[in-house]
Amino acid sequence: MNTVELKPGIYAVGAVDWNVRSFHGYTTNRGATYNAYLIIDEKITLIDTVKAPFAEEMIRRISAIIDPSKIDYVVSNHVEMDHSGGIPAIMKLATNATIVTTAASGLDGLKAHYGSDYNYLPVKGGDSLSLGKRTLQFVATPMLHWPDNMVTYCPEEKILFSNDAFGQHYATSKRFDDEVDLDIAMAEALKYYANILMPYSMQCSKTIPVVKSLDIDMIAPSHGVIWRSHIADIVAKYEYFSDGKPEPKACVVYDSMWHSTEKMAHAIMEGFARNGITAKLFDLKENHISDIMSDILKTEYIAVGSPTLNNNMLPTVASFLCYLKGLAPKNKKAFAFGSYGWGGQGIRGVNQELMACKFDVIAEPFAQLYIPTPSDLDALENTVAELSK
Ligand code: FEO
Repeated sequence: MNTVELKPGIYAVGAVDWNVRSFHGYTTNRGATYNAYLIIDEKITLIDTVKAPFAEEMIRRISAIIDPSKIDYVVSNHVEMDHSGGIPAIMKLATNATIVTTAASGLDGLKAHYGSDYNYLPVKGGDSLSLGKRTLQFVATPMLHWPDNMVTYCPEEKILFSNDAFGQHYATSKRFDDEVDLDIAMAEALKYYANILMPYSMQCSKTIPVVKSLDIDMIAPSHGVIWRSHIADIVAKYEYFSDGKPEPKACVVYDSMWHSTEKMAHAIMEGFARNGITAKLFDLKENHISDIMSDILKTEYIAVGSPTLNNNMLPTVASFLCYLKGLAPKNKKAFAFGSYGWGGQGIRGVNQELMACKFDVIAEPFAQLYIPTPSDLDALENTVAELSK
């Protein structure tokens, strides 16, 4: 079993999930990894575990280095089961180990998942733990991604074990940023941020100065590649992702039954483009909602279109809006559009959902009776061009 040494005595012992294509609804077209790290010191320490079905892979990697029964500490930076799912399997072998977790949400969460029988050591942000030659310092990062989250910093090695933060869903046999295509790693980091951390951008903005204050030569997240050659780049990206400042971009997202709403989407896109705005069209029959979120993160305008089906919007559009509302993007201008035959409830429903997203709804819904004529489309394009000047 391959084991990769980050620095002398510190190993990557996690697992690669090559074939996962849905991570609770987020499409993982490049698979995923669940990273865990083993520190060999006077106190042998495992930082995070893996998703439960991958515990055997993790244990084989650990066993290639030491007898797992010698583990003294298992640091759980985050209760979510992609990182804690391997705890029962490792604790069966490491019978004397203590689980280090945040007080109180980490402790409560782990007990709810795995029971109260283990030795737990609850810690707070600012606490530290001596392993012998090395120290672990804990930094609370609540809501990045759950209330329990923390990151663990080892000052002697200048490694930040960042858990979900700075992660990417990216399966590869390589472990470091400089061994893979950087554009892919960054695109996956963006998609990860947009789909997992976007609602918590304010907390992220508060965490970045803390990260920048640390002397770091590796950021070892719990998903994807370890950052060692592009640390400043990924930290700068996180500043950019979380700053809430939109760019002159427009996302035109729609589904259509008989192409009328689709024709409107094209006219709207042309209207934005006329002002130099980078506009993109997303047909919800062809694009997954989690892929669209990468563009939503920094867009200024969101136009959402649906015809009316059975007195409602199309289910694809409802799904997109439900997901969008949950991710709570900030500082967006939006409007609804679509064609209708008689009731037009679909378009009104879209408009209501955009308001529920707390967007700045900049126009009344553009509702087209049946089929737009070329002059209807020209008028729509002109109106959108005026709106987005
Ligand atoms: Fe990768 Fe929030 O778990």
